[in-house]
Amino acid sequence: MKTYTTSVHPAFITGETDPRLFGSFVEHMGSVVYNGIYQPGHPSSDERGFRQDVLALLKPLNLGTLRYPGGNYSSSYRWEDTVGPDRPATLNLPWREMETNQFGLHDFFEWKKAFNAETMMTVNLGTRGPLEAADVLEYCNFPKGTKFSDMRRRNGAEEPFGVRLWCLGNELDGEWQMGHKRAKEYGRLAQQTGQLMHQLDPTVQLACVGSSATHLDNYPEWNRKVLMQCFDQVDYITLHKYISKAGLTTPDYLCMPSDMNAMIETVVRVCDYVAACKRSQKKVCISFDEWNVGPVVADGDLGEWPVGPMRDCISFTFEDVMVFAGMFLALLRHADRVKIACQALIVNDLGLVLADDRGAYPNGTYAVFKLLSDCARGTVYTCAGSGDTLATEKLGEQPVLDTLAVRNADGALRFFAINRSEHEVHWQVNAAGMAAQDAKASAAQLCEALDTRNSLEAPGAISLKEALAPAWNGGTLSGVVAPYSITMWTLA
Ligand code: AHR
Repeated sequence: MKTYTTSVHPAFITGETDPRLFGSFVEHMGSVVYNGIYQPGHPSSDERGFRQDVLALLKPLNLGTLRYPGGNYSSSYRWEDTVGPDRPATLNLPWREMETNQFGLHDFFEWKKAFNAETMMTVNLGTRGPLEAADVLEYCNFPKGTKFSDMRRRNGAEEPFGVRLWCLGNELDGEWQMGHKRAKEYGRLAQQTGQLMHQLDPTVQLACVGSSATHLDNYPEWNRKVLMQCFDQVDYITLHKYISKAGLTTPDYLCMPSDMNAMIETVVRVCDYVAACKRSQKKVCISFDEWNVGPVVADGDLGEWPVGPMRDCISFTFEDVMVFAGMFLALLRHADRVKIACQALIVNDLGLVLADDRGAYPNGTYAVFKLLSDCARGTVYTCAGSGDTLATEKLGEQPVLDTLAVRNADGALRFFAINRSEHEVHWQVNAAGMAAQDAKASAAQLCEALDTRNSLEAPGAISLKEALAPAWNGGTLSGVVAPYSITMWTLA
């Protein structure tokens, strides 16, 4: 048996989780929108074409942010084609798909009424410029009496949509992006666009494009160069990360979220370095608005300009789910600086929910999202860890357990541990002063064979179960954590 100790202290607080950390992403690509959240004629769809079986699964996740409409899609997006009664079919160039525009801007806001989530809109700064960004902002947020606000009202929305959060483009650091730019060029464009948008609506919060991946040659310098240009206009810098199993051993894959930790910490330092250069106290925060595991399997031929093709519709293994959990803990661990996060994407494409003509079911990652959305909100404590390690090829020695401590608003203390090893681990949490002597300890865990997957026939193959409660003596909590598991201990 391996051993690991986590120590927390009531005075060592990292920060409060922002509800917007528990977000997701709706992009016009694959079958996220068409054949996903929207499928007129499907038996479970309402008269607006919104799939109710999908909504019924998504609502309990209590999503805090919904990012829309892309992604890469936003770099050839013309928002005005998606509103009003006459909507032309257009080419979704980044994805080589047909965009019918049947589901447009108003439909998104109508669909989003099912959630208590903040919208994060992406403007097209790949192939369009500041004025078009201001136009869509005017359409969404200006009350009335102007060209675009009155167009919105004619199209059925008397009240503004009131979108506060805006991404200034998407992944413009990557050569795959339509309208890819050099850092200084993009930074200046973000500055000019931000100036125009703030002039129109001073209440908006803007996120400039940061790094889309750590393997790019321009990482992390891109972030510094961009922020040097647009620092005064932005509140957030966006980061993206997808972790794939391809070419990795199981220990390396399971420990890869440590690269996400490092990415966050590096870019926070860059933000603070730029603030120092500017003689500013401002803390630019991180919007991690795309993150997930996969994909590992290339899609087959999706056909020419398809509508709603089944792209990356992967039912994740429990091994993937453990990596997903590690990524989520990396975000929560930095609650002081990561304020927004969007799991990508919401349905079908690496989705939390998988839906086809037969029905909808939760992907394996759903159980982790639900667990953390339900139980990991509140005050995050700084954890000091020590104990056995796991040998990896690419990341050196890594702690066997990845841990996090959170106190919920009702006072309950939650300790989370991901056991990345094939061994049982004796876990001790030093938590003197954190809970009363007579607090009640309980445990729940996700623990399956690494190749377990959910399916329509077995939608709960990966699900949370009660586990043996740890012992609490008023100062330490201790017990055994199962191999390859995600465990939550509660002191209530
Ligand atoms: O899978 C979603 C895509 O991944 C997004 O469009 C893009 O931003 C990212 O590269």
